[in-house]
Amino acid sequence: MIVRLCDNPRMSPATRISRAHCEALDRNDPLAFARARFELPEGLVYLDGNSLGALPRTTAQVMARTVTGEWGNGLIRSWNQAGWIALAVETGRRIARLIGVQSDEVIACDSTSINLFKLVAGAYSAARLQDPARKVILSEKGNFPTDLYMTEGLARLAGSDVELRWVEGEDLAAHFGSDVAVALFTQVDYRSGRVLDMAAMNRAARAAGHDIVWDLSHSAGALDLHLARDGAELAVGCGYKYLNGGPGAPAFAYVARARQASFPMILSGWMGHAAPFDFDPAYVPASHVGRFQCGTPSILALRALDEGVATFDGVDMAALRAKSLALSGLFWDLMETHCAGFGFVCISPRDTARRGSQLSFSHPQAWPIMQALIDRGVIGDFRAPDLLRFGFTPLYLRHANVWDAVMILREVMISGAWRAGRHQVRQAVT
Ligand SMILES: Cc1ncc(COP(=O)(O)O)c(C=O)c1O
Repeated sequence: MIVRLCDNPRMSPATRISRAHCEALDRNDPLAFARARFELPEGLVYLDGNSLGALPRTTAQVMARTVTGEWGNGLIRSWNQAGWIALAVETGRRIARLIGVQSDEVIACDSTSINLFKLVAGAYSAARLQDPARKVILSEKGNFPTDLYMTEGLARLAGSDVELRWVEGEDLAAHFGSDVAVALFTQVDYRSGRVLDMAAMNRAARAAGHDIVWDLSHSAGALDLHLARDGAELAVGCGYKYLNGGPGAPAFAYVARARQASFPMILSGWMGHAAPFDFDPAYVPASHVGRFQCGTPSILALRALDEGVATFDGVDMAALRAKSLALSGLFWDLMETHCAGFGFVCISPRDTARRGSQLSFSHPQAWPIMQALIDRGVIGDFRAPDLLRFGFTPLYLRHANVWDAVMILREVMISGAWRAGRHQVRQAVT
């Protein structure tokens, strides 16, 4: 759904909203305590936790201890004595609560791209074994590029045994059928923030006899997820966005317990072996979720991810979701009132059931506008060709931050500050 912010906005409740009103909302915020868990530069409004989460207050200390104590002093003994060997599974346990599955069904490892490959390849292989007529790998045309690229790589390997089918439209489940081996969908669209109905799509996939691999990169840590309840058995997700694991943090993979033992291991690395230090020439996967890691995990990165996930300790995910929607709703209302007539078009769903934890606005000058905003301490991001993206991270964002962001955007538009030459220069990361 596309909503144009018109020149002459109707009187909306946002007309009456003031900064004082936002501050009052912050005083009554049940999640206000969580902001103290982060290091955030004074005066900055950070609206990009959907791309790179903020630094947890404990991470630097834990990293220093890991480097100097566990690595420097413990050396190789730390694989046993500091619990390094079990860290991927331990961090997975913490993530499990956030996505609504059992603690032994998630592992933190590798990148989202690699985990996607493992699960799509395994599910495809399992489906083909049962029914060779199932040749199709189904996904959405607008899916995040790596999801499509990784699947295309798999198709190159499988040759004529696989048919890729990228579809679009409102009713994705209409494409499910007896020729589909596996489908791959990102629950929250990285551009618009649109949320797919996971429960309904899983039901439809089950009826059609195939799996869905879910990419939760923009869902985990942002939505109130119940994967087990909603019938999901396979999923991957990102560690460096809402989970606050740091730049390039390990990702995670979820495989329902009932599926683990029989799941085909395509990336069959030694760290997923039942007994890696037997150095057995025969590959025998571990009997638990540890089988889904490939090689030696990056302990430094895992420690940082573990601290990131720990920022959710004691946080009620339903309350987190409610705050996320309140923040994005506030931003939208304020945009309608204070930034109407500047040419912004919101491409995110108005319907809260279909809206993730971000809002995206198209504008022909999206890039320089975002640069001018960043220059003034409001950090969002840009997605080609013309989107300004604003992420709402309930653990550390205040309602007053939302007010400030919109007022600064208004000032950027009225002053024309975005026209400055330096704001026109594209950088490698947008
Ligand atoms: C939906 C989605 N999937 C996958 C990725 C990429 O994951 P990685 O770089 O960990 O492979 C991203 C990154 O932004 C993403 O948004």
